[in-house]
Order: sequence, then C-alpha cells, then structure tokens
Amino acid sequence: MLHSHGPKSPKSTSDDTRIKHSALSRLSRDLTRHTAEDGYMDSPESRKAYEEYYHPISRAKGDAVAREFLDRISAVGQYPSFLDRKDSPFVVADFGTGTGGLAEGILPVVLGSLPAETPVELWLYDKSEEALRIAPQNIRKTLTGLAVRIHPVRCTFPGSVRLPDTLHFLIQGNLLAEMDDGAADQIYRPLGETLRRMAPGGALIWVEPADRISSRRLLSLRDRMIKLYPEFIVLAPCPNLRNASCPALKTDKDWCHEDRPYAFSEDVRRLAKTVGHIKDSLKMTYIIAMKRHDDFPFRTSTMPVWRLVSELREETGLAWGIFCDGAERRRIRILKRYKNEGNKTFWKLGRGDTILPPPEDQMNARSGFWDLSPQAEIRLVPGSSENGAGSAMPEQGQDRPWT
Ligand SMILES: C[S@@+](CC[C@H](N)C(=O)[O-])C[C@H]1O[C@@H](n2cnc3c(N)ncnc32)[C@H](O)[C@@H]1O
Repeated sequence: MLHSHGPKSPKSTSDDTRIKHSALSRLSRDLTRHTAEDGYMDSPESRKAYEEYYHPISRAKGDAVAREFLDRISAVGQYPSFLDRKDSPFVVADFGTGTGGLAEGILPVVLGSLPAETPVELWLYDKSEEALRIAPQNIRKTLTGLAVRIHPVRCTFPGSVRLPDTLHFLIQGNLLAEMDDGAADQIYRPLGETLRRMAPGGALIWVEPADRISSRRLLSLRDRMIKLYPEFIVLAPCPNLRNASCPALKTDKDWCHEDRPYAFSEDVRRLAKTVGHIKDSLKMTYIIAMKRHDDFPFRTSTMPVWRLVSELREETGLAWGIFCDGAERRRIRILKRYKNEGNKTFWKLGRGDTILPPPEDQMNARSGFWDLSPQAEIRLVPGSSENGAGSAMPEQGQDRPWT
C-alpha cells in the first residue's frame, strides 16, 4: 500500500531563501559516508538543508513506525498498560533530536491515543545549540493546542546526561549514524540509565538509516539492551517476541532494513533528484521495544511467523528470499514449475511481509536453502504488507484465524 505524505515540510523559521543545493549535496555526501562535520546543525546553510530534505523524511518514518507501535501493542495485549494515564505527565525523551523531525512524526500518533488533557513533558537532547532552538519551535507547531513542556538538554553522547526521574517513551533517530563506532558502542551507558528509569509499560522507538554501518550499530545496541535489560521486549521488526540475539549480526556482511513504498511530497522528490536519490520509499533500520508490565502479560502466538528480510529474488526457474523468525534466518526457495494456487502468495511477497510458515515436512534443506515442496501453502499474515513486520499475530487458541 502506498502511504500518503503528511503535512508540508516546515519552512525555515529563520529565513525564506531556498536552500543551497551545494549545501545539501555536501551534507548528503557526509551523512552517507558517516563523516558529518561536527556542528553541521549549527551552520545555517547545512541546518536549513537538513530541515528541508531530511526532516520530512524523518517525520514520515516516525509516523509509520509509531503507527506500527500502536498496532503491535494492541496485538500483544499491551494497550491499556501503556496509555491509561491522565493526570500525571507523559514523559518523552528524544536523543539526538536535531530539527525534531522524528519526534514530529511519532508524537502526534502516540499522543493521539492518550486522553486529550494529558500533560506532556518532552526532554530533547542534542549537542547542537541551534538544533535545540529550532526543534522546540517545530514540535510546538505540530502539537498545537497540547500542553507540552519542553526541556532542551545540550549534551554530547556518550557522556552522561541529565534525565527525567521517570519516563514513558524514548525516541532516538539517526544518531548512531553520526557517531564513530566506539561511541555507538558506548551509548548504552546513558541509554541504560534511561532504560532503568522507564516506567513499566514504557516504550522506545529507535530509527537509523538503512545502510550496513548504521543498521549494524542499531542492531548491536538492540542486542546489548535485551542482554542487559531483558525486561525490554522487542515488538518489531523482529517477529514472535523472542528477544533473541539478532541473526543478522552473525556475519559481518549482513544487516537488516526496511524499504516501504511511500509517496513523498513534490518538494522532497525534487530535492532528492538534486542529490541523486530516488525517494519513493522509507528506507530505514528500526526497533520498537517495550518494558514489561507485570499486570499485562504479553499475548504470545502459538504459531511463530516468519518475516521476509530481503527482497524476493526471482532467478531462472526459481524464486527465493531470506526469512527471519526472530532468532534464525532461512533462505527459502521454490521452483517456478511448482507455482500453484497454494503458494501463489510467495511470488508476490515484498520485504517486511510476514507469513505463516508451512510445516517442516514440506521443506527440504539443500545447499544452504530450504526448498518448498509443491504442497507447501504460503499464507500472508493480515496487515503485514501494509506496514511490514506483520502487525497482526495469531492469538492463543486461534491458530489460523484468517484462513
Ligand atoms: C541526523 S540528526 C537526527 C535528527 C532527528 N533525530 C531525526 O531523526 O531527524 C542527528 C542529530 O544528532 C546530534 N548528534 C550527533 N552526535 C551527537 C552526540 N555525540 N551527542 C549529542 N548529539 C549528537 C546532531 O547534532 C544532530 O542534531
């Protein structure tokens, strides 16, 4: 499904001149190579380039992942534990807030499911003074009418930071991509303190670019989190609530990312062209996790699902893809001459789609692949092709509610 784009990108709060394409090209090259200059957010030209091009992209990603978060918590029976609050503030921290793009995407969706009068406290963290000036303005515009108290905190991760005593939501976007490897490894220290302070039923959304380096940094952080703080359960994109180490990290060359069709505004597509990008999808690595709440046990599935974590590749005489069950990856392939009513869904699968696996006796392991037999039926988990990762899960006692 093609998602529609949100509101138009915010115009600069400082001036109305068009961004300089040279500034955007430089920024895009540096961000892609992980060599962004320290303080690029403090330079008017590059900050403006970021705000006009990357900001709406981050906002779209935030919106998509926040919607998936709501789907997932309702699928695993967590909805009331997290959202039933009215008088005390809902406290959110945003690490590496930049111009506030990711927060602008996530907050309206999450706050939209809270009682309207809920007070909101927003702690914004960044090393750039300019970012901490601009982000509150952008976020306030998006959250017009809500009672939001904003605390900008200037800091340089992985150094320690001032944190709220308790928080309910942690967001972090495109921050690890800008740190060096060592720093990304160490960020779990301030992050760990944040995770400890999170209320039961609290949640986090972390988003990074889809490239191998950024993705692996995020996946390593994910693995470290579930090892040190096993009370956090990964809801997405990893299926089946297994909280296992990420199988993509088993070899150096792998990573895991999404690529979801998305209709960006004309402005974003035009800017994309000037830097040689094609902007027709949301490309990202992301993690949604939630802190266990004793009163609301997670509803787990009796039947594990598998998520396609690669493109579906069609070659002469066959098609194959890499599937993940949250603990292991399998290359599954099928011969074209076996194509039939029962497996026709396989041929239409896209990255992020989630299926019910056929029984083991309908697959044969051979030369690093699992070959599907002609009898193997392939069924898509409902909703999974709309937002990737499989929003719905079969409930206990309802083994195949959609068949
Ligand atoms: C690419 S922007 C991301 C902005 C926003 N989260 C988003 O996704 O659009 C990354 C931000 O992280 C900040 N940043 C980078 N390294 C940092 C560090 N070590 N400590 C604090 N902030 C940092 C930068 O100043 C920048 O504003």
